[in-house]
Amino acid sequence: MTPQQFPAPIDVAGVYDGIGQIYGSAWGPNKHYGYWENDADDSSVEEATDRLTDLMISGIAAQAGQRVLDIGCGIGHPAFRLVRASDVNVVGISVSHVQVAKANELAAEAGLADRATFQFTDAMNMPFPDGSFDAAWAFESMWHMPDRGQVVAETARVLRPGGRLAVADVIERGPVSPAGRAVLDHICANYAVSSLGTIDEYRKVLADNGFVDVEIRDISDNVGRTLDLMADAVETVRDKLVDLVGEEQATSLIDFMRLSAAAPESGYLFLTAVRA
Ligand SMILES: C[S@@+](CC[C@H](N)C(=O)[O-])C[C@H]1O[C@@H](n2cnc3c(N)ncnc32)[C@H](O)[C@@H]1O
Repeated sequence: MTPQQFPAPIDVAGVYDGIGQIYGSAWGPNKHYGYWENDADDSSVEEATDRLTDLMISGIAAQAGQRVLDIGCGIGHPAFRLVRASDVNVVGISVSHVQVAKANELAAEAGLADRATFQFTDAMNMPFPDGSFDAAWAFESMWHMPDRGQVVAETARVLRPGGRLAVADVIERGPVSPAGRAVLDHICANYAVSSLGTIDEYRKVLADNGFVDVEIRDISDNVGRTLDLMADAVETVRDKLVDLVGEEQATSLIDFMRLSAAAPESGYLFLTAVRA
């Protein structure tokens, strides 16, 4: 497949360099959901978001010295935690030049520039040789991909046989009510998402691309507190959001975060798989 045949690019960088910067200023350096063990778990956002990173770290089970691909790296915070935990080398990719520059700057500040490098690369069409990574994760990035099958195929190509993959992703959970559809449509329209995946879709594209030992967990209940907390966080920087998108859109974004928090159709999965 040539690049020209890919579905039209969607403006992911526009989201992360725009409203994403404002959300991030209130949410913290992990650009992903938090994971709480149960309703009684009173972990902070920082602890809960790091805990989801730890789940991903255990999912890829990388060994010291291995080379890991971070698909959709944000500003590198999860990669730094992975490098420190597993003593691996990480290559992070993102379609935001702003994020890539920030991630490399933070890696240098943390003394990790020789272990974690970040580059502008579209996961739909990666420049890496076949079999050049021991493990990979797509940490809350797959929901943005115009063609998840294409990314999974590319990931299978760049992983060596036996290489592990972990994915954390926002998904659609059926059955979808009209109110739930409105929430899902809002997510797609405002966060550079063509369509949300489902557990069934993931099972199919992983099997189609030669992944085995697929284990998928619906962790919607564990991450469910995220969107209400994020709405609270964004309220604290509402003025900045209004400056960027105007009063009406800012209200809509925050209202829909709370509606998404309550909608059972707005789900989340964690999966691991092995490239055969
Ligand atoms: C929700 S953020 C997660 C960032 C990071 N994994 C974290 O957990 O902090 C989604 C990330 O996916 C990246 N992304 C989206 N589409 C991409 C694509 N086609 N290729 C590479 N990265 C992509 C975005 O640039 C962003 O860094």
